[in-house]
Amino acid sequence: MNKDLLSGFDLTEKDVANIFKQTKILKKKKISNVLNGKVAALVFQKPSNRTRVSFEVGARQLGAYSIYLAPRDIRLGEREPIKDVARVLARYADGIIARTFSHEDVCELAKYSDVGVINGLSDMYHPCQALADVYTVYENAGKFKGVKLAYVGDGNNVVHSLLAIGTKVGLSISVATPKGYEPDKEIWAQAVKISKKTKAKILHTHDPEDAVKGADFIYTDVWTSMGQEKEKLARKRIFKKYQINSQLLKKAKKNCLVLHCMPMHRGEEITDEVAESKQSVVFDQAENRLHVQKAVMAMLFKKHK
Ligand code: CP
Ligand code: NVA
Repeated sequence: MNKDLLSGFDLTEKDVANIFKQTKILKKKKISNVLNGKVAALVFQKPSNRTRVSFEVGARQLGAYSIYLAPRDIRLGEREPIKDVARVLARYADGIIARTFSHEDVCELAKYSDVGVINGLSDMYHPCQALADVYTVYENAGKFKGVKLAYVGDGNNVVHSLLAIGTKVGLSISVATPKGYEPDKEIWAQAVKISKKTKAKILHTHDPEDAVKGADFIYTDVWTSMGQEKEKLARKRIFKKYQINSQLLKKAKKNCLVLHCMPMHRGEEITDEVAESKQSVVFDQAENRLHVQKAVMAMLFKKHK
């Protein structure tokens, strides 16, 4: 495994398998001392519930301490250069978890830090989310080959990492977005390349009904990501037909399950009815953030200090 987890493309198929093996063990055995006395530094430029809490709780459950550094504390790139922040934090902590706006900022932290850097969401990627998503698929489907996941909504950070990790394990993914909101072209091309090797089928369409046909899982995320607030009104109009509602659910497989990385905006990308339905596994998915991240921390923090 590399020193850092930045996008999901940086994991090999074997890394993902190892993470999931550890995840299964750590999910059963909540408390351990594998990171006894180690320190996790959380550098966040954006708000968070799941990522912050699951990393802090996870670190504690492994015997480590965590320090949360809010946007006002570090003021990444404003108060001092990121390369200095990285080298100073690496002298104190055994691992850094960073939530940034620009993806280059998290890469810069990783470049100058001697300890592992885990991307806890940047504008381009959200690899910890994708690990939890794919693990949730595995727990429910018991396999990846022949399993279809349909992602409906914005071609954003969440879908970018999902494409990276999902295609690697052989999960078939169809993505429906409005015109102009497709996943990044280069990222898509990388995913296509991987999918050819793993025989995962990937497809992009502008038609949500097309995407969900035969799907075992339907996944969505907010229409307006953090940092895009000025576009909120326009996006509400543009994404209107990309809502996960009971009508769209009927077009998928009968017992298809619903995923959402959360926070959910009921009445926008998902209806309250679907969010609260038996088919929704969003809280299991959120819980799995804790378990997969514990596995990642155990593997990265131990190895690189
Ligand atoms: N899904 C996710 O990353 O949630 P938070 O923004 O609350 O951390
Ligand atoms: N795409 C969303 C994910 C939130 C967890 C955002 O970046 O705000």
